[in-house]
Amino acid sequence: MDFSKNDRQAFEEKYQEIIPTVPKAGKNAKLVLPDGREVDLPIIESANGPNVIDIRSLYQQTGYFTFDPGFFSTASCVSKITYIDGEKGELQYRGYPIEELAEKSNYVEVCYLLIYGILPTKEELVKFEEKIVQEMLVHEKLIEFFKGFKTGAHPMAILTGVFGALSAFMHNDLNIYDPKDRELAAIRIVAKLPTLAAIAFRTANGLPIVYPQKKYGFIENFLYMMFANPTTDWKISSEIVKAIDVICILHADHEQNASTSTVRIAGSSLANPFACIASGITSLWGPAHGGANEACINMLESIGSVDNIAKCIEMAKDKTHNFRLVGFGHRVYKNFDPRATIMQKICHNVINVIGKEEPLLDLALQLEATALRDDYFIQRKLYPNVDFYTGIIYKSIGIPKNMFTVIFAMARSVGWVSQWLEMMSETGIKIGRPRQLYVGHTPREFVPIEKREPEEESRVPPLHGDDDILGSIKLG
Ligand code: CMC
Repeated sequence: MDFSKNDRQAFEEKYQEIIPTVPKAGKNAKLVLPDGREVDLPIIESANGPNVIDIRSLYQQTGYFTFDPGFFSTASCVSKITYIDGEKGELQYRGYPIEELAEKSNYVEVCYLLIYGILPTKEELVKFEEKIVQEMLVHEKLIEFFKGFKTGAHPMAILTGVFGALSAFMHNDLNIYDPKDRELAAIRIVAKLPTLAAIAFRTANGLPIVYPQKKYGFIENFLYMMFANPTTDWKISSEIVKAIDVICILHADHEQNASTSTVRIAGSSLANPFACIASGITSLWGPAHGGANEACINMLESIGSVDNIAKCIEMAKDKTHNFRLVGFGHRVYKNFDPRATIMQKICHNVINVIGKEEPLLDLALQLEATALRDDYFIQRKLYPNVDFYTGIIYKSIGIPKNMFTVIFAMARSVGWVSQWLEMMSETGIKIGRPRQLYVGHTPREFVPIEKREPEEESRVPPLHGDDDILGSIKLG
């Protein structure tokens, strides 16, 4: 279990290409404080995209924190994995444009690229895929966990629980300081996710579990475990396999998004990587993030007909509603989401292959056209994002709605773990620990319970009032 200083040195020498280091600062930015003090803050140049002002010493020098809820202007780490130019609509993994990867590569090759930083040779790719497929089996004891969920449980709820439980099976022998152990954990994370996703689907539907097969590749195995009937031969169109493969490439990584940042923060406490990935799955589930694919189909279904598009657009613009046009808008892309452009093409291809009309596609196209003509969306630079079309593709393939985000999680697992690997490869990992702008009470006197008045203005009653929530026999 030991990982010595010499081992570390050897690792650093050999793997310089993938270990990120903070470049030396160049010029300084001057900050003038209200009391007239001047502080020099180093500017660090990026390889591509905006440079950063290094504020790590700001508090020490000035006593001030910075305030940036939602991280609009804050780089939380140094990374060599993914680059996005939101204005130009560019996305690159390790320097390779997403359009080229979607056209010429495949998901397993992209996994290799994200983890190891380079494209594999033919032999390396074959070996890598064999290793992953071999690791797709899960411990039989883990399968018992699935029996504990109530009927109708959302597969994302099941996945967060069961994936976290994987850490119980892979903890004691895992030394997170040893790059070899980390590599094995990474392969296992990518390999186990489709299996657990498929088991979640099958058990929720009373279907027998189907085990992975060596003769199938990674994506085929996922589809096989999802849809095969053990009593008949299984066949799937190569076009559908290709479509899912490309969708997974498009979802594989997206630099410091909410779920990836969650994984990094969890990992920064040196937690078990399987548990860290479970935290990423949780963060992904929300409809503002990966849950948008399911929410988008729900939205399209509830719009129902082109006659209701205008009403829906008005509702999305009305700030008194929580409603947003799902599948529209992005924190980073302010021109177009290059993944959405590719996704729209896949959507048309899949519908052609299946040969069945998909009424939701017409509705989506008209909704998109109406929104793109509307000043509200134009002014705010809101365009369709990757999730606007994914749901329609999945639906036409026959994948149930509640599995959409699960597939996103499966594809993103490699991004999460590559970012975790990258962070763990650095020396002097800092625990993620933001500051806050405190706006609560200053110190006040503790009032003994017998002296507290119910009618005191500052007292806020519990929202449930006198409801007998604890005594209720209906278990939540
Ligand atoms: N519908 C209506 N208004 C919107 C939308 C939308 N989909 N998205 C943003 N806005 C408005 C928002 O109300 C705000 O208006 P104002 O300036 O008047 O207050 C303005 O646009 C800026 O929005 P924001 O909330 O500051 O933007 P953000 O960067 O914090 O949010 C987002 C990004 C993706 C969470 C948001 O656009 C959204 O909620 N979209 C719908 C959900 C969705 O499709 N999510 C999938 C994202 S892509 C998959 C992934 O990688 O996660």
